[in-house]
Amino acid sequence: MTILLTGGTGYIGSHTAAVLVEAGYEVVLLDNLSNSRPEVLERLRQVTGRTLPFVEADVRDRPKLAAVLREYGCTAVIHFAGLKAVGESVRQPLAYFDNNVGGTLALLQAMQEAGVATIVFSSSATVYGEPQYLPLDEAHPTSAANPYGRTKLHIEEMLSDLCRAEPAWRAACLRYFNPAGAHPSGLIGEDPNGVPNNLMPYITKVASGELPSLGIFGNDYPTPDGTGVRDYIHVMDVAAGHVAALSFLQREAGWHAINLGTGRGYSVLEMLRAFEQACDHAIAHEFKARRPGDIASCYANPAKAASVLGWRATRGIEEMCESAWRWCRASKGATRSP
Ligand code: NAD
Ligand code: UFG
Repeated sequence: MTILLTGGTGYIGSHTAAVLVEAGYEVVLLDNLSNSRPEVLERLRQVTGRTLPFVEADVRDRPKLAAVLREYGCTAVIHFAGLKAVGESVRQPLAYFDNNVGGTLALLQAMQEAGVATIVFSSSATVYGEPQYLPLDEAHPTSAANPYGRTKLHIEEMLSDLCRAEPAWRAACLRYFNPAGAHPSGLIGEDPNGVPNNLMPYITKVASGELPSLGIFGNDYPTPDGTGVRDYIHVMDVAAGHVAALSFLQREAGWHAINLGTGRGYSVLEMLRAFEQACDHAIAHEFKARRPGDIASCYANPAKAASVLGWRATRGIEEMCESAWRWCRASKGATRSP
């Protein structure tokens, strides 16, 4: 089976490519390189021992996508491509609707044209909005707190309508919680442009000396230590979830929303301490005001993934921090010695 990975050179796409190849799939990576670099391909060659086919293209280019699906004989698509910065989406909502919703619409039309009707979509726990209860299961009401989240909801709804209208379609919306960590080889990992928005890449950059100090956004939340709690999930577990979703969709048609989380939340301070263990030195930090729009706690009920996909997260925060640190040192070399 040949799988098209849109956004295939990005953080989660590149790890999923490595895991799919290991599982025996053929893959084609497609990306416009707006948030990733072509060097990932050489690193994937080292990880997999193979040169993976890569197409530099935009998902909004429908004719190109249809041609790629036909040329490589793809039977399914994993759709990672999208913009993902919440703050940027508030400032530039049209760019987000164009890229994420418009891009998915073009992709689905191209798939229809090429006779491909199986898709795994990168959704997010953000579709649950402010939690009404925890842990979050898939029956929790959905809502969007910002344009980024709204694009995820719109895309989920688009896929749901399509599966209802055309029985041949099969779609799995994987609602990721907080992916973190890197490939065990240290060859691929998360490498955001500029100053990171998210906790783990920010901690990594402070640990390596690239940034001076971590700002912890709020220490007065109703959580055990007052800092925000999230369900961090190893990116290799997320990648494995996609392999499980592909085989699930071979058995099941229709639309499915499935959480990819561990079921366990960790606070910002717990993550900081785990990273200090991994890098073996103290990480400068200071408490700051809460970040607007942040919630106190968010973690998954992962029971559905276990029952329908036969998948569960197996890696803990130590492995996330150790692999992120290994990747950081291997890719850039730490500028600060422990
Ligand atoms: P990423 O930015 O590393 O990867 C996305 C890739 O898509 C990038 O390589 C980018 O160049 C590419 N891309 C963007 N727009 C494109 C377009 N129009 N055409 C072709 N390529 C395009 O991000 P990631 O962390 O790997 O996230 C992958 C997906 O998972 C995204 O859809 C994101 O919204 C979703 N997601 C991520 C997280 C997270 O915390 N990382 C959490 C929930 C959901
Ligand atoms: N945090 C800090 N300092 C930082 C960055 C984050 O204290 O510099 C805190 C946040 O306040 C929060 C926790 O660390 O308590 C996690 O923040 P992230 O930005 O890493 O993750 P979020 O849970 O806020 O958001 C992420 C993605 C969203 C996605 C959401 C749910 O960025 O796109 O998970 O999947 F919608």
